[in-house]
Amino acid sequence: MREQTPALIQLGALGTDVFGYLTVAENNKEIPFAIQRVYWTYRTPTGVKRGMHAHKKLQQVLFAISGKIDIELDNGKGKRVAFALDTPGVGLYVPQMWWRDIFFGENAVLLSLASELYDAADYYRDFEEFAVAAKAL
Ligand code: TYD
Repeated sequence: MREQTPALIQLGALGTDVFGYLTVAENNKEIPFAIQRVYWTYRTPTGVKRGMHAHKKLQQVLFAISGKIDIELDNGKGKRVAFALDTPGVGLYVPQMWWRDIFFGENAVLLSLASELYDAADYYRDFEEFAVAAKAL
């Protein structure tokens, strides 16, 4: 399987400082897949780390729709990349088979647009197990 690359997606913003802003995400347009599931994470105490898993199949685009969220992605083969999300109009595309560590800033709200319905069997929750599988691809 050819490795997909994580990337920031600029969705932009419609509006003005006077009236406020909105950002739009549509299937197979700004978002490079059909969205099957949306979830959001909130009231996470400052400095808490979440994520700590990789997905076999699922792709997603993550947004910090409020606050700041630092995300570190690891391909299990020695490549680690860091992203800082702090703009609601910018998403982070996370392909399948990338381990994610997610660090929440104060009052941060993470929005996730996912390519699959929830499936516990799609997760690697042990990094070493993930790394063995990633190297075998
Ligand atoms: P998890 O994916 O580990 O969240 P995070 O990566 O943000 O730390 O999910 C936390 C718990 O919620 C876990 O028990 C699985 C459950 N869950 C669902 O039942 N459905 C879902 O769509 C998601 C995302 C999680």
